[in-house]
Amino acid sequence: MTNPYESDQLLAEYLLFHYGADDEILGKLPGPREALSFPRRSVSELIGPMQRDARALDVGCAVGRATFELARYAASVTGIDFSARFIAAAQELKNSGSCESSRRIEGDLAEPFTAKVSAGIDCSRVTFETGDAMNLRPGLAGFDAVLAANLICRLPEPRKFLDRLPQLVKSGGQLLLTTPFTWLEEFTPRENWLARDGRRSFEVLKEILTPHFELQATKDLPFLIREHERKFQYGIALGTRWLRR
Ligand SMILES: C[S@@+](CC[C@H](N)C(=O)[O-])C[C@H]1O[C@@H](n2cnc3c(N)ncnc32)[C@H](O)[C@@H]1O
Repeated sequence: MTNPYESDQLLAEYLLFHYGADDEILGKLPGPREALSFPRRSVSELIGPMQRDARALDVGCAVGRATFELARYAASVTGIDFSARFIAAAQELKNSGSCESSRRIEGDLAEPFTAKVSAGIDCSRVTFETGDAMNLRPGLAGFDAVLAANLICRLPEPRKFLDRLPQLVKSGGQLLLTTPFTWLEEFTPRENWLARDGRRSFEVLKEILTPHFELQATKDLPFLIREHERKFQYGIALGTRWLRR
C-alpha cells in the first residue's frame, strides 16, 4: 500500500491545516471556527508547567506546526514523522521560515499558499527527523514532554508505540496525547484496534498507561482539515495530559 502521507494532496492539506490562517481555511463560509488552529491548541490547551531547559518530542509531527509551538515552552524539541515529504517540508520551514504550497479550490483549481513559521518561534530549538513511532531509535528517551497528536489510530500496531512511552517520558515529565479514535482497517488491522470486545478505546488506553502515568487532564479538541473550498474533515480529538510517575 502506498503511504497517503507521502502524496501531493495530503502534503498540501497538512501545510494548510497546520499553517493556514482562519480565513485561508474557511474563508467567509459558516463553519466551526473553534476547530481551527488544532496543531497550536494541541499544545497550548494541554501542556502543563515546563522548566526552561526542558526537552520535548513530537511523534507523528507531520509538517511540524506543533513541534514549533512546543519550542515556546522547551529549550529543544525533536519532531519525528514517518513521511519523508512531511519532514522535508518541516525542515524547509525551519531553515527558511516558509514553504510554498497550494490551496485546493475545487477540482483541479488551486491557488498558491505560503506556509510560514509564526513570529516569535526560535527555530534553532527545533530539529526534525524521519522515524517510525513503532520502532523509534534507541537514543530517544527521558523527555520532559512528549506529544503524540492524532497518531495512535494511524499506526498498524499502536501498542508498540504505547509500550515505548514510559521510556520516552522521564519521571515527572508529561505525555500529551490526542486522538479521535478513528480506527480504520486501512491503517490498523482490526485485531489491533484499542476499541474491541465491547470496550471503548479510552478505557483500554487508561489500562495500558496507568501503571506508568497518572491522568492529569482531559480536553475535547475539535479539528478541521480543509480538502477543498467547500469540503472539510471535522473531528473532535480527545486530548489528555499524563504525568509520568
Ligand atoms: C493524522 S496525522 C496527525 C499529524 C499531526 N500530529 C497533527 O496533529 O496534525 C498522522 C501523522 O502520523 C504520521 N505517521 C503515520 N504512521 C507513522 C509511524 N509509524 N511513525 C511516525 N509517524 C507516523 C503520518 O505521516 C502523519 O503525519
